[in-house]
Amino acid sequence: MEKSSNFKSRFQKVKILRPKLLEVAKKTGTPLYLYDKEEVKKNVQTFKNAFKKEGLNINVFFATKSNYYLGILKTVVQEKEGLDVSSQRELKLAIEAGAKKIIYTGPGKAEKDFELILKHHEKITVNLESIRELKLLAKMAEAKKITMRCGVRIYTKVQSGWTKFGTPIDNLKTFFNEAKKYKSINFCGIHFHISYNKTPEKYIKTFKILAEYLKKNFTESERKNFEYIDMGGGFYPQPFEGIYPWNPEEDSMEVPSEKEIMETKIGKRYIPIKVDPVEKFAKEIVKIYKKEILPLLPNVSLYAEPGRYICHSAMHMLFKIIDIKNPKLGITDGSNNMIGWERYQFFHYVPLFNLSQFDQKNEIPFITYGSLCTPDDIWGYYIYSKTTPKEGDIIVMPFQGAYTYTFAQNFIKEIPPVYDL
Ligand SMILES: Cc1ncc(COP(=O)(O)O)c(C=O)c1O
Repeated sequence: MEKSSNFKSRFQKVKILRPKLLEVAKKTGTPLYLYDKEEVKKNVQTFKNAFKKEGLNINVFFATKSNYYLGILKTVVQEKEGLDVSSQRELKLAIEAGAKKIIYTGPGKAEKDFELILKHHEKITVNLESIRELKLLAKMAEAKKITMRCGVRIYTKVQSGWTKFGTPIDNLKTFFNEAKKYKSINFCGIHFHISYNKTPEKYIKTFKILAEYLKKNFTESERKNFEYIDMGGGFYPQPFEGIYPWNPEEDSMEVPSEKEIMETKIGKRYIPIKVDPVEKFAKEIVKIYKKEILPLLPNVSLYAEPGRYICHSAMHMLFKIIDIKNPKLGITDGSNNMIGWERYQFFHYVPLFNLSQFDQKNEIPFITYGSLCTPDDIWGYYIYSKTTPKEGDIIVMPFQGAYTYTFAQNFIKEIPPVYDL
């Protein structure tokens, strides 16, 4: 099948990495996650530069939930960017990584969360979710004579289905008025988030709704209080995955028969996922931001919390074929507990490469199972391999850093270690 230029450059990178990966597998053993620091640096800079080109300095807060590996967090901090955290656990990791700029986001914050937040208050901005949170934090901050920098998460009709988060935009003014009552709260930000954006459309719509609301409900001097707009994450990177043609809506756990797969009666192995380049996101977002938001909120900076975009290509998974059950079916030492769900079995196709019998032109039907004691543990139905894979062959599933390591489970097997490339 015709491969996009994105696929081509990634195939090239696998080829370059191959000798190193074979060496790592030999010396360290498998299974492993491989951390690729250069990819994080590249993704942070590409994201920043896309906005810079449009004349805007975007403040990046990497969403820790997408991959909490300390190496990634440290690399983002080295790149002088911030971290977005959603729990005490993530906040502790961010502090350990040396983060100086942290956004704390997430529903249902409790007293213990605020205790830790207040301990590190100089580094943190809190996106509040409810009046209860506001009152509790104000009281706790006052007792410690601290002024806490805060904003509020809002949702509009664009965030439909995400109503567990934040407060409806119609409550923004009430929230603002309440926050202004507390000396211990420096209320200065507005946050929203939408996931899985393949085009900039939802950011643009949200900015339009927000501008309309601000114009109607806030005076000019009130609007001067705002210091940041945090548009969350959701920037879908150019993917190295496709959707299985037998599950185009990604809504079922159906798999065709082994026979159909083996005889490649499916035709297409995957349906590509189409995503606008980040440069288009930046162009459209900056355009609306400068036109609609900045004239109303002259003191704001723009924040973003990209997760997937920064870490998607920064981890690869390395494993070894342990058993060949038949010429079309093998079992690896690495298993789907490394990713926590049946992603590659039911939903997403990702190319698998046999590094021991390397051939990037020959993709053959071959079911690569993991070795969990459950049938639902499949890496994929096809593999790039010169001939039928053999016992001891080293396999890589590359560019799988987003929501894999974070979702890993001690289900039957241990979570494997990470090796820094
Ligand atoms: C508040 C918030 N910010 C950022 C992110 C990161 O999103 P993504 O990884 O899609 O960029 C999420 C993910 O759900 C989120 O809930």
